[in-house]
Amino acid sequence: MFPSHRPRRLRRTAALRRMVSETTIRPEHLILPMFVKEGLTEPVALTSMPGVFQHSRDSLRKAAVEAVQAGVGGLMLFGVPAQHDAVGSGGTDPEGILNVALRDVRSEVGDSTVIMSDLCLDEFTDHGHCGVLDAHGNVDNDATLEIYAEMAVAQARAGAHVVGPSGMMDGQVGVIRTALDDAGYLDTAILAYSAKYASAFFGPFRDAVDSQLTGDRKAYQQDPGNIRESLREVQLDLAEGADMVMVKPALAYLDVIRATAEIADVPVAAYQVSGEYAMIEAAAANGWIERQRAIMEALTSIRRAGADIVLTYWAVEVANWLRES
Ligand code: PBG
Repeated sequence: MFPSHRPRRLRRTAALRRMVSETTIRPEHLILPMFVKEGLTEPVALTSMPGVFQHSRDSLRKAAVEAVQAGVGGLMLFGVPAQHDAVGSGGTDPEGILNVALRDVRSEVGDSTVIMSDLCLDEFTDHGHCGVLDAHGNVDNDATLEIYAEMAVAQARAGAHVVGPSGMMDGQVGVIRTALDDAGYLDTAILAYSAKYASAFFGPFRDAVDSQLTGDRKAYQQDPGNIRESLREVQLDLAEGADMVMVKPALAYLDVIRATAEIADVPVAAYQVSGEYAMIEAAAANGWIERQRAIMEALTSIRRAGADIVLTYWAVEVANWLRES
């Protein structure tokens, strides 16, 4: 008798397939990234990310409540200031848009979800880099760390449960941990963007935050061809006190997610970034791809690779699909 092995037996009915399915996605695995812009009275739709908005303070509160009702695991807030300057003062100022929005959202939803904040200077600087520049125009690592420390405390004070340092400065996790502890925020957790690549897939995000960047971030974000340095960054971040580690982008770096999950003894997050979102939305809008299936397949593959938590702009929609099914 040939074939002697018939794996198709377990694929025959929906019930069999469901019984042997290995990878699950639940709403609580998903984190919704959200943008809030200073001075807006109405939300502004983002052309390069259909369905995503720059929120006003008001619309952010409402969208946060909706996300909580959908059961998402958490929110990751990004602030877009009205003014930029060389040192990104808006990031440390308690009245800066991100800190104000954190207070708004925390007072609106309390502890019913996990409130996270992006901890980086690129949204706030007039040159668009993730840190301050030295006299030669290079990003000054150690001067930037001092500002990150201040930003972390401001965000914790404003109500962030988790801060997410995404600037790829050496030593950022350690400096932030010490600053939080010294200020009494012993329980504020750190989600470290450990393996973050200099990626073309961040393109639409730069529109979302009105990025002022003209060059690139290759002097601090990683080369897409490398994985050893990702694992080293993960180990360093763990040694410095990261409570969770993240790989970003997700879909083009599934091997990095897998390798990270194998060495990290903390939860692993992956960020399905703006370009990953835009690709599927654009293809679906043209009728070239089945939207819902493509979204679920991408998310499933990220979970299968080893991510516990996924940051995705589809978090609310997917959470609603999951509850309906
Ligand atoms: C930096 C930051 C970026 C993203 C998240 N945090 C941009 C960058 O590093 O250039 C990108 C997220 C996305 O593309 O969805 N603050």
